[in-house]
Amino acid sequence: MFATRTTPHHVTCHPPPCMGLLCVACSAAGEDTSDHRISMGGELKAVGLPRTNSTAEFAPLGDDKEVEYFFASDASAIVEHTDRVIYLLDDDVATVGAEGILTIHRLKRSVDDTHNREITTLKMEIQEIMKGSYTSFMQKEIFEQPESVVNTMRGRINFDSEVVVLGGIKDYLGEIRRCRRLLLIACGTSYHSAIATRQLLEELTELPVMIDLASDFIDRSTPIFRDDVCFFISQSGETADTLMALRYCKSRNALIVGVTNTVGSSICRESHCGVHINAGPEIGVASTKAYTSQVISLVMFALMMAEDRISSQPRRSEIIQGLKNLPDQIKEVLALDDEIKDISKHVYEKKSMLVLGRGYNYATCMEGALKIKEITYMHSEGILAGELKHGPLALVDKGMPIIMLCMRDNTYTKTMNAVQQVTAREGQPIIICNKGDKESAKFGSRVLEIPKTVDCLQGLLAVIPLQLLSYHVALLRGCNVDCPRNLAKSVTVE
Ligand code: G6P
Repeated sequence: MFATRTTPHHVTCHPPPCMGLLCVACSAAGEDTSDHRISMGGELKAVGLPRTNSTAEFAPLGDDKEVEYFFASDASAIVEHTDRVIYLLDDDVATVGAEGILTIHRLKRSVDDTHNREITTLKMEIQEIMKGSYTSFMQKEIFEQPESVVNTMRGRINFDSEVVVLGGIKDYLGEIRRCRRLLLIACGTSYHSAIATRQLLEELTELPVMIDLASDFIDRSTPIFRDDVCFFISQSGETADTLMALRYCKSRNALIVGVTNTVGSSICRESHCGVHINAGPEIGVASTKAYTSQVISLVMFALMMAEDRISSQPRRSEIIQGLKNLPDQIKEVLALDDEIKDISKHVYEKKSMLVLGRGYNYATCMEGALKIKEITYMHSEGILAGELKHGPLALVDKGMPIIMLCMRDNTYTKTMNAVQQVTAREGQPIIICNKGDKESAKFGSRVLEIPKTVDCLQGLLAVIPLQLLSYHVALLRGCNVDCPRNLAKSVTVE
């Protein structure tokens, strides 16, 4: 990424040719930007490259105007300097030459290449990417969830008429309803949002739903048909494996639906239609608020798909009312922070931690365990409680920290069965259960009670104690919660 700014200083950067996601042009805040002459697709001009494939050229106007450019892979990295960005496309090479002229070249030229590279004005606010009173971005993003979930639903759900409209998908609904199956493909946390919503999608769409990790999907050469609808879920919209899978499905003429948090990202641009989850910039490498917003986006899609089916109306209605209460319930869960911090003091020195649950909360276990391993470097496994006897039970003893999600849904009795198997092996589970659930609580060495909501939304509340626990354990272990070792926020390589 790359930016320019008119400043009283001399040209300050002479970066090497840039191949990146974004190219940014900016002017200092409050300055008149009309003095930037932007010439696109004019005279071909080779700047620092032997080839003459320039596609667009930007130069500051006037004799005494000087210019400053910033290169970055994400707009949030430069928003404090500028709100004017140019997004680079694949195979673009940007160079800054003498006189502050920015030239964008194409490495490979194809017939449908456009000469246009527009300057986009970011809507992002600087406050959105500042920590404020929080000690880390991750903590801020966890505590932002009462607002970020509202932003995801804003203008999309009418809680009185119970109408749900996703503007980026509504024109494709007919085609989606006629499809052969839905495929949800993603990596990491985004994949867990697919697991979290699969059951509801099956219920409300009555379509077969396949979920896949993007890296595995592209390894398999999966058969894809023109009447498949393929969802690509990605916070960044740039994850290489997800993008590869998208291109594979697109080349087979499937309908491509992007679910991203980053307007203008590659997945946004290459999808036929989609949903912006509107969670706001997420800076911490470990995804938190994007997860809850991804789940809500997919729930809204399921609700839209069932809007005409009379038999689904009571179910739709309970889910919509559940979504309405969610922000306040999230605040209640966040109020458990001190209790969770105290629990973290008892587990932070352990080597490993298991997270067990089933049904809608299998995804919660997977996501909780991912948070723990990402930022605490502790081994952690999310385990489907139904699989306990098929191996994981051998790990259980009194020293192994085990978190068990015991929610009052249709899997409750079976989950309690798993709890008893654990306690019979001297396991001392930390139980996350619904408020007032004495029956579950009596088995816990520690208990966290969270408000009850509709079964398919319960994971949105249950995941928050796990986000907070991983955060506190990471601090106690002296880890950098925002930038864990060896990990990146946008994984743009396969
Ligand atoms: C990286 C990040 C994870 C994220 C995953 C998928 O591994 O560290 O937090 O879940 O990529 O990213 P995406 O942007 O596609 O959601």
